[in-house]
Amino acid sequence: MQPLDERQIQVGVLGATGTVGQRFIVLLAEHPFFVIRALGASARSAGKTYAKAVNWKQTSPIPTIVRDTIVNECTPDQFAECSVIFSGLDADAAGDIEKAFRDADHAVFSNAKNYRRDPLVPLIVPLANPGHLNMVHQQRSLHSPPLQKGFIVTNANCSTTAYVVPLAALEKSFGPIESCIVTTMQAISGGGYPGVPSLDIMDNIIPYISGEEEKIEWETLKILGGITEADDGTKTFDMHAKNPLRISASCNRVPVIDGHTECVSVRFKRRPPPSPQQVREAMAAYTPDIQAVGCPSAPRHAIFVHEEVDRPQPRLDRYYQNGAGVSVGRVRQCAVLDVKFVVLANNVSIGAATSSILNAELAVMKGYVNY
Ligand SMILES: NC(=O)c1ccc[n+]([C@@H]2O[C@H](COP(=O)([O-])OP(=O)(O)OC[C@H]3O[C@@H](n4cnc5c(N)ncnc54)[C@H](OP(=O)(O)O)[C@@H]3O)[C@@H](O)[C@H]2O)c1
Repeated sequence: MQPLDERQIQVGVLGATGTVGQRFIVLLAEHPFFVIRALGASARSAGKTYAKAVNWKQTSPIPTIVRDTIVNECTPDQFAECSVIFSGLDADAAGDIEKAFRDADHAVFSNAKNYRRDPLVPLIVPLANPGHLNMVHQQRSLHSPPLQKGFIVTNANCSTTAYVVPLAALEKSFGPIESCIVTTMQAISGGGYPGVPSLDIMDNIIPYISGEEEKIEWETLKILGGITEADDGTKTFDMHAKNPLRISASCNRVPVIDGHTECVSVRFKRRPPPSPQQVREAMAAYTPDIQAVGCPSAPRHAIFVHEEVDRPQPRLDRYYQNGAGVSVGRVRQCAVLDVKFVVLANNVSIGAATSSILNAELAVMKGYVNY
């Protein structure tokens, strides 16, 4: 592990005006060692001060440090001083832009879907699989030409992030999960601003979110799976292949502003399976490696397990640990699989910006970021 010296680490934020971008700004303005140096967004925003370009929707004021910063277009030459790039870019733009930043030797931490399926790009939920970060070596060495500093690390879709944290806790304590059924109730902010029109979402539930079910079913396998190493040293994400995991996801958009709530049932490979009480205890005791490393944005407790029968609830629980932890409740026997529970996570914090920041903190601690 590389000790941090006295220097601060200059960072840039792409998509700084969006829903995720604004959360990055709020979190980074208070960060102990990341310092915002440059901001990027579309041509619509470029050339304006941040305060003029952004439609600010956070509950705290725009931090003074960025109010008068001129927003740039997202080209690497405007971010030359930044060792770390956080991306809250729309997927339509993220593919080419994030690649250009990696090619220019920046460490890129992305929220977009574009590189999640790339066989060399780690898909990291920091409370679940921080160990996948070491795939960065191979990503750099196989790049043409090989990169000294550049790489892309993505985080997961916000609905995947929420439930994969308790699943990781359960696999750590009880071994492989064999099958899982997850039904989501996803907040409006998960689709960015302005999201679903108010006349479509008020007094309503929309039982379809394009591409979301496929993302949950696929991303979970990459995150919970291991990394296998061939005789020649080549590493591959194993997609949980040693213990195949079947997942069925159903995704719904509900009239909640922030916070995805998900009902989850799991079946374990282990027979007999753990009891609901053992599951509760394992989740409450779960300590992801990211806490041991000392990342400053890591929650003190990754999972809070409620005993009350009517929790978690988005309005009450979405700011648990400043949005960095997840809340679980209603852990009980499942009559079809083994155990079922409800999980809630803040989609904009641990589901997006907080995950990227944690991934970057980990990369700094482990010496993957040269600054
Ligand atoms: N919202 C969530 O809870 C959540 C959770 C996990 C992951 N994500 C992912 O995070 C990303 C951002 O989501 P969001 O909800 O923040 O979206 P958003 O509110 O629509 O913001 C999109 C950002 O991308 C910028 N942008 C759009 N087109 C661009 C272009 N051609 N060149 C440069 N910048 C461009 C926008 O700049 P302008 O303001 O100038 O248009 C804005 O800053 C998406 O990939 C999304 O799937 C979101």
